[in-house]
Amino acid sequence: MPKPIYVLSGPNLNLLGTREPHIYGTTTLDEVKALCEARAAAAGFTVVFRQSNHEGELIDWIQEARTQGSAIVLNPAGYGHTSIALLDALQAAELPVVECHLSNPAARETFRRHSYVSQVAKGVVMGLGAASYELAVEAATRLAAKA
Ligand code: DQA
Repeated sequence: MPKPIYVLSGPNLNLLGTREPHIYGTTTLDEVKALCEARAAAAGFTVVFRQSNHEGELIDWIQEARTQGSAIVLNPAGYGHTSIALLDALQAAELPVVECHLSNPAARETFRRHSYVSQVAKGVVMGLGAASYELAVEAATRLAAKA
């Protein structure tokens, strides 16, 4: 059995389903988890699916993935626009990283256009709602299988 894909979500994504549904949709994070598990299973992978509102906890999980995971899917949420520490952790992990966003940050406020995570990501999936996670997991399984 290959090592799992780590699917990590940043701050405020625990509110999915009720948080600004016109932007982020009505799918809950539990439902997103089920979609990710199904997509990974179809490719022979399991997922470790976690969400935190705390930057340090996300960094601890990226460090865990460094030895326990085969790839990382990350929706950094607001931290993507601010966190050099997350970028450092991802660089240290030396794993394929796929960044994902439910909304399309490039089509929103200008401060959302820059992502530190994009500097280390193999690819970015954004703007497709819950499908962004599914497609990011699909990409991660392909990258992990090649690694
Ligand atoms: C987000 C986009 C970010 O700009 C925002 O801060 C989020 C969610 C998304 O999934 O669309 O919290 O990452």
